[in-house]
Amino acid sequence: MTRILGIETSCDETSAAIVDDATGVPTLRSLVILSQDVHRVFGGVVPEIASRAHLTAIVPVVRETVAQAAATLSDLDAVAVTTEPGLVGALMVGLNYAKGLSLALDIPMIAVHHMEGHLFATSLDDATAEPPFTALLVSGGHTLLLDVPAWGSYKLLGSTRDDAAGEAFDKVAKLLGLPYPGGRHVEALARDGDPSRFRFSRPMLHRNTPSDDSSYFDVSFSGLKTAVLNAVRGSTDIERDRADIARGFQDALIETLVEKTARAAAMFHRDRVVLGGGVACNRTLIEAMRARMGVHVEVFAPTPRLATDNAAMIARAGLFRYNHGERASLDHAARATAPLPGQE
Ligand code: KG4
Ligand code: ZN
Repeated sequence: MTRILGIETSCDETSAAIVDDATGVPTLRSLVILSQDVHRVFGGVVPEIASRAHLTAIVPVVRETVAQAAATLSDLDAVAVTTEPGLVGALMVGLNYAKGLSLALDIPMIAVHHMEGHLFATSLDDATAEPPFTALLVSGGHTLLLDVPAWGSYKLLGSTRDDAAGEAFDKVAKLLGLPYPGGRHVEALARDGDPSRFRFSRPMLHRNTPSDDSSYFDVSFSGLKTAVLNAVRGSTDIERDRADIARGFQDALIETLVEKTARAAAMFHRDRVVLGGGVACNRTLIEAMRARMGVHVEVFAPTPRLATDNAAMIARAGLFRYNHGERASLDHAARATAPLPGQE
């Protein structure tokens, strides 16, 4: 049996979790997520404040996680930590804590790529969410469309040319006067919206694009964001139009993501689609994906607490890397950007 402590501090969540494989299937034993509410007043994450908040939270968060699993630190076989990509100052808090724990307990440290964590998240809810599959990772910082023939082997098909999907949601939320982070507020507002009033053009979604053109899988949301801005500015009664604009924006963004994912699943003959990242909390996206894929393709989406940033997914990806014999050295550095390990 292997028992792994995961640590996540790449952005504004301080999180720790314990995953083990005692039953033969990787199982989540405990998870603590402390979200830093302080950034709300700034309308976005302030890196220096995030680092300081991680520093005060990390010790009690780990202590609580270990207690919830009815374990002690000496029961741990390894510590897995997010080392990339993310805010470097924030990553360094978790990384240095993991180094200290690794030294003190004489256990290995495993370096985990944050987006590989998001890829593994759904498998903690449902162990059948395993490769081969098409993956759509949609978070505040990233939008990645991948073909995954096996864990650890990632073919990058498409990504965003500008804003990430979550970032587009957050910026549109701001334009509509909604709180940060705005994704779920836009989704709630769009529910009452009339889909016929604002039909924004679908970004990078053209019927005749050849499949070897990079725009076949890539997405771009800055034009859509500008269209929303113009709609807001052009509105004579924003209270009347807000929900309809939110609806028009969400419909355009979702249709684009769903169609690109459908193209990827068809090209690689996959019968599973796995969603991940904070935007995968969006029920409208999940339902649209299921409707588009039909009965022959199963769509897996993580439960909300595993979709947004959390350490459970880091412990799970860490277990995979641990079983492959990977060990990080104590001079391992944090990086702001990095391709997925095993990405082609
Ligand atoms: O994965 P995540 O927690 O953090 C990053 O790694 O970036 O994703 C956060 C993003 C935010 O942009 C937030 O607005 C978005 O996920 N989000 C949503 C929903 N819930 C969270 N976007 C759309 N609909 C939602 N229901
Ligand atoms: Zn994330």
